[in-house]
Amino acid sequence: MTQKVALVTGAAAGIGAEICRRLAADGMAIGVLDLNIADAKKVAAGIVASGGKAMALQASVADRVEVTGAVAALRESFGPVTVLVNNAGIAGFVPFEEVTDELWDRTMAINLKGTFIVTQIVLPDMKTAHWGRVINISSSSAQSGTVGMAAYSSSKGGVIAFTKTLALELGQHGITVNNVPPASITGTVMYEANKNLMPMTPEQAAQMMPVRRLGEAADIANAVSWLASEATGYVTGQTIGVNGGRVIV
Ligand SMILES: NC(=O)c1ccc[n+]([C@@H]2O[C@H](COP(=O)([O-])OP(=O)(O)OC[C@H]3O[C@@H](n4cnc5c(N)ncnc54)[C@H](O)[C@@H]3O)[C@@H](O)[C@H]2O)c1
Repeated sequence: MTQKVALVTGAAAGIGAEICRRLAADGMAIGVLDLNIADAKKVAAGIVASGGKAMALQASVADRVEVTGAVAALRESFGPVTVLVNNAGIAGFVPFEEVTDELWDRTMAINLKGTFIVTQIVLPDMKTAHWGRVINISSSSAQSGTVGMAAYSSSKGGVIAFTKTLALELGQHGITVNNVPPASITGTVMYEANKNLMPMTPEQAAQMMPVRRLGEAADIANAVSWLASEATGYVTGQTIGVNGGRVIV
């Protein structure tokens, strides 16, 4: 069997880096795409040191020219890309009346338009292979709403709607499209930057969870590993909650 090639965006840190390590352990060759090329190289080097295959790619997911170049480099080195994890995202807590046009547009450009751009650029490889897995990292804030996250939760709601529509369009090509909405995942750059702005301490938040703990990047990577596998050809358009029971729909 030829080795599958996976592209993970926002892969230099946090959840994305853990997803890279997990998919590499599953036997895939990994494109570690991020704005932050120094840390992306560290993630790729760690995978290579563990016996896996990975390369770092620098691009902003919001920039079609940069993403086109990065995907071409990945394809050239490792082959067609048939697993895509749209994970890159930005977040912040801003009261609604203080949200500026600039913040709104930047959030949409990275979280929502970036998902659209990268998917569109990778898609021809999946259609040629008549097999593909697109996994979008959304957020539980899109399901429940979150105070101070109007732009962020709107962008992630868009990611969920995008997932559903693509599943309808691409199922006939052997391509599944699903999304994973995390709740609080500790230890990531995003979580550490925002945890003091949250209404509860991490300990209080953990006690509110049905499973009595906050999430870890590995919790998300486990779900992504399953969604990226051969086992999920009949799972598409779905929102796979990995949130300790914070949101149950
Ligand atoms: N951590 C959480 O609690 C949590 C909760 C819900 C959803 N999420 C979602 O999970 C995903 C990963 O979150 P995380 O906590 O690991 O974040 P993080 O901030 O730790 O890592 C995000 C990575 O994305 C990269 N990035 C940002 N903008 C980019 C761009 N334009 N192009 C390419 N790369 C870019 C950053 O450089 C960084 O390496 C995000 O989509 C986030 O919205 C996280």
